[in-house]
Parts: sequence; structure tokens; C-alpha cells
Amino acid sequence: MRIVVLTGAGISAESGIPTFRGKDGLWNKFRPQDLATPSAFERDPVTVWKWYDWRRQIIAKAEPNEGHRIIARMEQEFDDFYLITQNVDGLHQRAGSKKVIELHGNIWTLRCTSCSHQKTDYRAPLPEIPPSCERCGALMRPGVVWFGESLPEDALNLSMDLSRSADIFVVVGTSATVYPAAQLPILARSSGAKLVEVNPQETDLTSYADLSVRKKASDGLREVLEFIYTN
Ligand code: APR
Repeated sequence: MRIVVLTGAGISAESGIPTFRGKDGLWNKFRPQDLATPSAFERDPVTVWKWYDWRRQIIAKAEPNEGHRIIARMEQEFDDFYLITQNVDGLHQRAGSKKVIELHGNIWTLRCTSCSHQKTDYRAPLPEIPPSCERCGALMRPGVVWFGESLPEDALNLSMDLSRSADIFVVVGTSATVYPAAQLPILARSSGAKLVEVNPQETDLTSYADLSVRKKASDGLREVLEFIYTN
């Protein structure tokens, strides 16, 4: 039985990391077009880097929560298990997940805007804003996917294949509003998977779900495990 889990910012909410939408969401306080687009970075790399450095500092102080740990345990328990995440915080890996498909990149990766150099840098705060490439001196950018950019091709293709072949597709903590990630649960459901949602709020996916658990991730995932064992 192939189990695929897709997570969004909500899985990290219990770790104290702000989500993007909803009442305390980042996009209520900041405009994505000012901070999370290629043109914003071109126009004002210092402001964009200050915002990512601020988020990196929040994440650095955060710990994985029970929801991350349950998913890491699922990877151990089920031999045909895959995790796809929209999150860039790296908390799944810190909770013990080994196979993490990162659709939107990773906030700890820095990528040169000129040469092919990229590196993982966990320093928070960064000593130099904006950081420059130690190879060629050009500006480094956060290794995340911005609005208007394409997702890493391998990650997206693998995620589409896994969605088509899933027996159970579990969606945790996403508003399911950003494509192409939001397409994956629909693709899974239309390919015959049982769709399970964990979210304190209803989303556009709720009406498609075979089971929709109106709880936060850590509590809801326990209920999902029972559903999996009985299906
Ligand atoms: N447990 C589970 N879900 C939660 C919790 C919680 N404790 N708290 C909030 N949520 C839910 C919210 O109800 C919401 O549906 O998590 C969802 C978070 O939605 P968004 O903030 O839109 O985050 P996400 O869906 O991951 O956004 C997708 O948008 O800004 C871009 O690239 C960014 O990856 C992100 C993408």
C-alpha cells in the first residue's frame, strides 16, 4: 500500500513558525510581490534578504513538533511511503524524515545568482546581508522557489508520479491554494487514492476528502494512522 503525505505551512505551526495565510499569516503583514518574487529580489535584494534572515532566525529557534515526528515514524513503519513538502524550513529532516521531496526548495540553501555555486548555510543571523558568492563574488539568493518561478523539475515530476500511484494520499496543513502543489491531492484522488485531509479549517480539498480531520496536525495525524490501519 503506497502512502504519500503532502505537507504545508500548517505542519510547522505548532513549532511556532508563522503560516502564510489565515489570521496570523505572513501574507497579512507582508506583500508576497515585495519579498517572494524574482523582481522583488532584483529591485531590493537587501530587504528580501533581511526578511529571509528574519525567517531563518525564527526557524533556527524552532523545534520539530509531534506532527513532524509522527510523519518521520510513518516513513519507518510503512515500506512504501513518500513525503512531499511545500515547506522550506527543514523541520521534517530535523524530526528524522530521510526522504523529503522539497517542492519549494529549502531556506537553508544559498544559491549564486551568477555561477552554479550553492551551499547550505545554517548561520542565523547571516554575517553579511546580502551574502555574496565565495566563488565569483556575485549576489547569493535564497534557495527557495519564488512566485512565478518553476518548481524543481525532478521533484515535481516525482510528486506527480507518486500522486498518480498513491493508495492513500494525506494532506496536512495546506490551504491548497498554490499550484502546482495544490493539484497533487486532486490528481491522487482522481487516480483512485483515498484522500485524507488534516486541517483545523476547511479548504477546497475538504469536499474531495474521504476523511477530513478538523484538527491540528499532531492530533489529526494520530487519527489518520488509525484510518490507515483500518483501510
Ligand atoms: N495543523 C494543521 N494545519 C494548520 C495548523 C495546524 N496546527 N495551523 C494552521 N493550519 C492550516 C491552515 O488552516 C491553512 O489551511 O495550514 C494551512 C496553511 O496554509 P498557508 O499558510 O497557505 O500555507 P501553504 O498552504 O503551505 O502555502 C503554500 O504558498 O506562500 C506560498 O511558497 C509558499 O509553500 C507556500 C505555499
